[in-house]
Amino acid sequence: MENKLLTPLRLGDYTLKNRVIMAPLTRMRADADLVPTKLNIEYYRQRSSAGLIITEASQISRLAQGSPMTPGIYSDKQLAGWEKVTDAVHQENGRIFLQLWHVGRISHSSFHPGEGLPVAPSAIRPEGNTLTSEWKQVPFETPRALETSEIKATVRDYKQAAINAKKAGFDGVELHSANGYLLNQFLHGKTNQRTDEYGGSVENRARLALEVIDQLIDVWGTGKVGIRLSPFTFSGDVHDLDALPVYEYLLKELDFRQLAYVHFVRARSTEIEDQMVFEKEKELWNRYSGTIIAADGFTPETAEEYVENGLADAIAFGRSFISNPDLPKRIEINAELNAYDRTTFYGGGEKGYTDYPFLQEQNA
Ligand SMILES: Cc1cc2nc3c(=O)[nH]c(=O)nc-3n(C[C@H](O)[C@H](O)[C@H](O)COP(=O)(O)O)c2cc1C
Repeated sequence: MENKLLTPLRLGDYTLKNRVIMAPLTRMRADADLVPTKLNIEYYRQRSSAGLIITEASQISRLAQGSPMTPGIYSDKQLAGWEKVTDAVHQENGRIFLQLWHVGRISHSSFHPGEGLPVAPSAIRPEGNTLTSEWKQVPFETPRALETSEIKATVRDYKQAAINAKKAGFDGVELHSANGYLLNQFLHGKTNQRTDEYGGSVENRARLALEVIDQLIDVWGTGKVGIRLSPFTFSGDVHDLDALPVYEYLLKELDFRQLAYVHFVRARSTEIEDQMVFEKEKELWNRYSGTIIAADGFTPETAEEYVENGLADAIAFGRSFISNPDLPKRIEINAELNAYDRTTFYGGGEKGYTDYPFLQEQNA
């Protein structure tokens, strides 16, 4: 029987060759200027058989950075570095979207000493520790609440980043509004206690994400813009089921716009005990009538089942794409997957990055 995961998919302005998507994966291997390197080019080139590559999150400004050595998309050098990545992927007949990132309070002042403390909707410290620019584990700082005028400036930073991404030859952009970062912090009441037009009501808390989406559409058109959402995430200390009405509203608004796709990080059964959450999740997804990518914890088998049952149009694989550059081929011939090595996820060189074997190397 034909494997539906391997069939083409119309996604916005493109027809993808398959529904096996490479999830955005931060790997912390850019250079000191936060520019993609030769090694990064090779890594993405190796993974061009994905229906779509969504890059690692790329910060839109200095203040937007939250981890060491993550690539930016705000300087000319960074843009030129990314251009080589998109060229390599296109030479291999691949498609690649850039994930646009602002971490908000999940930052540390060591990344932007000139700008000082991390920024956020409200001055609320996340629980836990973070890494400094020197790779030292330290407790999070209490962020500074953005002024309303600074929020407008942040929207402009996103727009400029989208323009830069276009110049760098990407096929589109994904707005990172998931996993506890800035836009996610605005959506949830636990992290957003503002009293201006960006806080309080459902409409106000969704305002920033929608303003940014509209700027991205202005630059790219609806068919080349996606958004990533994780309504039930525990990452970044934002978990807050009271945020559900915000997502209902946001999805209604996104449905009007008909983006290239909405990318959902699904609720984790290891984190969530209340079974009602999974019903709520289904309801949320049903509010979006366009293309849906689903992520988190899929195997080739569960992914196929999911797509076959119409729960999503495509599946994003994270860790399996780290260790299997030829993942679609392995799915096609039902080959065993290479195991991933967690210790080489973040930082370092080619070990655990570009040295995972392709099938033909393994069989040679
Ligand atoms: C090393 C690593 C880096 C990640 N970086 C990002 C990122 O930059 N942006 C993002 O939205 N998600 C990121 N994620 C989450 C993945 O996109 C994906 O949702 C997660 O790995 C679950 O999918 P999986 O079970 O297929 O690995 C990262 C995950 C891992 C393991």
